[in-house]
Amino acid sequence: MQIPRHLAIIMDGNGRWAEKRRLPRILGHRKGVESVQRIVDDCLDLGIGHLTLYAFSSENWGRPRDEVDALMGLLGNFLKKELSQLQERGIRLVAIGELDRLPEATVKILKDIIAKTEHNTKMVLNLALSYGSRNELTRAMQSLARDVAEGKLRPDDLSEQDIDARLDTHDIPDPDLLIRTSGEMRVSNFLLWQIAYTELYFTETLWPDFSRDELTQALQAYSNRQRRFGLTGAQLDGTADSDGEGRH
Ligand code: IPE
Ligand code: IPE
Ligand code: MG
Repeated sequence: MQIPRHLAIIMDGNGRWAEKRRLPRILGHRKGVESVQRIVDDCLDLGIGHLTLYAFSSENWGRPRDEVDALMGLLGNFLKKELSQLQERGIRLVAIGELDRLPEATVKILKDIIAKTEHNTKMVLNLALSYGSRNELTRAMQSLARDVAEGKLRPDDLSEQDIDARLDTHDIPDPDLLIRTSGEMRVSNFLLWQIAYTELYFTETLWPDFSRDELTQALQAYSNRQRRFGLTGAQLDGTADSDGEGRH
């Protein structure tokens, strides 16, 4: 089985998991945290180098106040308990998104864990919090525009690397595989630039029910894909008679 270097997950379906059971949505989110803990262990076990979890989007701020508060509460509690787990397992925590919009106490714990786990090397756990890809790209463009205005960068010299370098994900490789749970076939403002050549995998399973078995199925499907990056299958197999342009 091929193991992606970077797995990204849109953890969707907590609310519906609860609603199906006539429970308040927040219980679905609570159950979702258990899935997070399981999946982190599974990914570590499988040798996945980077795991990015979409936990809260820029647009999720628009949900009812009670739900937002409850989600922030869960996040705070999760982080408080997480440091010792991460240290024990050698996992480094990083985060992307507009972190300053999170409650002050949460930002403080988050920054503390990020600093304390900085030298861990077994896996990088990247939490997307208050994250929206368009927001991230806008902030990157603002930084580019400032550098141009200050004469540090000439517009004609601007490269893809200059854009990459200004994204929150600048020191994280692009995802190899993106999983979305709950049957929705959309990307919902997640890593739009970074998933240009990412393999996509959708499952009907709601996030609280997402198991090791489901993860293995996704990895099997990923293993059977041929990632061509715009080239031909023969070029990648090494069966092409020549490479380069201009052949017919
Ligand atoms: C994903 O579950 C978690 C967050 C977006 C915070 P949802 O809360 O979106 O669950 P559904 O999609 O309403 O079922
Ligand atoms: C995407 O799920 C965001 C997270 C999983 C954190 P949403 O539930 O917010 O996405 P939409 O609204 O269905 O597109
Ligand atoms: Mg949802």
